[in-house]
Amino acid sequence: MLFSLTPKSKREDFFDREEELAKLHQLAQLYPLVVITGLRRVGKSSLVKVFLNESESPSIILDGRKVYEMSGGNISSVHLLRVLSDEFAKLSKSQKIVNVLRRIRGVSVGGNSVEIDPKEFYLSDAFEKFNRFAEKEGKFFFVFVDEAQYFRFYGARGGEELRTLFSYCHDQLPGIRILVTGSEVGVLHDFLKLDDYGSALHGRGVGFLTLKPFNFEQSVEFLRRGFEEAGITPGFNLEEIVSELDGVVGYLVLFGVKYLETRDREGALREVLSTLKALFERELSELSRRSPRYLFLLKSVAQGINTWSGLRNVLHARGDIIGDSRLYSLLEVLEKMSLIEKTPDGYKITDVVLGKMLKEGMI
Ligand SMILES: Nc1ncnc2c1ncn2[C@@H]1O[C@H](COP(=O)(O)OP(=O)(O)OP(=O)(O)O)[C@@H](O)[C@H]1O
Ligand SMILES: [Mg+2]
Repeated sequence: MLFSLTPKSKREDFFDREEELAKLHQLAQLYPLVVITGLRRVGKSSLVKVFLNESESPSIILDGRKVYEMSGGNISSVHLLRVLSDEFAKLSKSQKIVNVLRRIRGVSVGGNSVEIDPKEFYLSDAFEKFNRFAEKEGKFFFVFVDEAQYFRFYGARGGEELRTLFSYCHDQLPGIRILVTGSEVGVLHDFLKLDDYGSALHGRGVGFLTLKPFNFEQSVEFLRRGFEEAGITPGFNLEEIVSELDGVVGYLVLFGVKYLETRDREGALREVLSTLKALFERELSELSRRSPRYLFLLKSVAQGINTWSGLRNVLHARGDIIGDSRLYSLLEVLEKMSLIEKTPDGYKITDVVLGKMLKEGMI
């Protein structure tokens, strides 16, 4: 079903992305660590889940957002182990892997559950066993780290233990492939610290894949196919919906679901926009707490003031004599969070819907 709200894992529910799936396959053959980035709701988790499902290789998922929410902000090994024991329990459905799990120190496999003893267990030991299994079977063992940017809150050293583990896998465990996603590109890079001399992952070869929103035609076709699948011929122009919502598939799905529920084009569109508005406001309120200048800058960029000097001038014009280095660092944060991007024509708001809302003063 194309119009469903959870991430897809089956190929038949997954629209297009042929090229991206092929690319991910290629990158996973070549690189022990592959980073998949893209805007919120663009389909990152679905892409990786479908890929894993198709590959028939064993895998585990470490979802940074889930672990972060479970921990209330400071992720420790207790939270990670809780997620791991669920993932191991899923793996334990395969008889071959049960035998691997049983050989990991500190892991005990019950009927449907797996217990991990934190005093005995080492992730590196688990990964070594998975690596040996993968090599023997001529497969990979995939570790999917979803919303990885949250793992910068892991442990006391900003996730350094995980970076060390990933670099160990990279260098020593060729059967393990780590797939990492995140929607805040710069923040994800901050977590991985690929360019940081002091970091465990510095200088490692990494594959990158950026997932773009669907183009206009793909988006229209996506809506058409979704409605067709639901047995509905919508009595309105799909192009108009795409003009409003652009090509972020998660937004289109939400529209489809709302329309199927209400059969009211205007109402469905309104609901999607108000859901997105709430989503954006939550993200932006966090930023505004850190500095009210962020929202002002975003609004200015949305209104077309898209050069560094233009932005400095509008701040000065309202009596805010900001220093150059401060302005640079504010813009850098907005870029890292993928809220703005630099284009040859200057800064722009990355998400088209957010850009429109800011421009129209809805946020
Ligand atoms: N190719 C696709 N075909 C059909 N539906 C898709 C496709 N890709 C994603 N979706 C749907 O779009 C929504 C968002 O997808 P998904 O959760 O994979 O995106 P994401 O980029 O991981 O989002 P987030 O930034 O929230 O983590 C979900 O409802 C999912 O089912
Ligand atoms: Mg996701």
